[in-house]
Amino acid sequence: MGKKVLTGITTSGIPHLGNLVGAILPAIIASNRPGISSFLFLADYHSLIKSQDPELTHNSSFEIAASWLACGLNPNEVTFYRQSDVPEIMELAWILSCVTAKGLMNRAHAYKAATNINFEQGTSDLDKSVTMGLFNYPVLMAADILAFNADQVPVGQDQKQHIEMTRDIAARFNHIYGDVFNLPDAVISSEAGILPGIDGRKMSKSYNNTIPIFLDEKALLKAIRKIKTNSLEPGVPKDPETCTVFQLYKAFASISQIEEMEVRYGDGIGWGEAKDILFSLVEEKIKPFREKYSEIIKEKGYLENTLIEGSVKARQAASITLKDVRDAVGIKSFQ
Ligand code: TRP
Repeated sequence: MGKKVLTGITTSGIPHLGNLVGAILPAIIASNRPGISSFLFLADYHSLIKSQDPELTHNSSFEIAASWLACGLNPNEVTFYRQSDVPEIMELAWILSCVTAKGLMNRAHAYKAATNINFEQGTSDLDKSVTMGLFNYPVLMAADILAFNADQVPVGQDQKQHIEMTRDIAARFNHIYGDVFNLPDAVISSEAGILPGIDGRKMSKSYNNTIPIFLDEKALLKAIRKIKTNSLEPGVPKDPETCTVFQLYKAFASISQIEEMEVRYGDGIGWGEAKDILFSLVEEKIKPFREKYSEIIKEKGYLENTLIEGSVKARQAASITLKDVRDAVGIKSFQ
């Protein structure tokens, strides 16, 4: 079967250019490599941690699934599924929570960030507004990974701690019950894959600075025009390295296009023109994806069937692990 590479996409919000360059395209390229079996899933149960809006949860799953397929993911080459269609994952989450030290979860970044906010606001109950979902988030993530005994987990830097926790939890289980789990490695996406958003900070839903992938042409131009630049006039040489427009351009351009643009910066290109050039390039790259997306989004039946087929494959793999896990803990048939 080769190496198992697994990654999840939380289904909250709509995918943006940062997701495209940092996650979607690299995962699709990696899934085509020989000797790799890819597991890609919509982490829809994870989305309940952040959102309690049923319509948003539902639509986001649908839009994200359509986005991956529109950008070229071939569902026959990978195992592409919804987390919620694989009940073995939830079952494993409980079993893992019974070997997970609470103290380990106390140290999770997402939980600590929530208690810090309470601390800074002088709230006496540091756990105010913290749900068990948020607290248990790393256990669910460990279950996502360990249900398939994945070898590698490509994630952003912010998720590295969760993979370390997954290893801790797996090692603890193996120590108590015998070797069932493989300890997975995180594969951290390179800095080069991180795009700035329109305000220059990392493009992220939480900063509200994203450029969605599937804007129409007009809205895309409008978003690109909003990118923050300094106030240097046309004719004054500009530094590409500190410029958001240039960083975005670089993510889509060829080496020769990048070099040409550097020369234009040295010559003092005006911001309006630089943004127009960026727009033309991004538009050229995403137009075929947008066309495909608008076809797929109309085909609810096709999307549903694709994900159901994916979940059949996923359940085959996960049920093998779960059988070993249940046997190991002593939950099994009397005969
Ligand atoms: N929590 C991850 C994120 O927010 C998404 C995710 C859920 C995931 N389960 C996973 C990633 C398992 C890798 C493996 O980005």
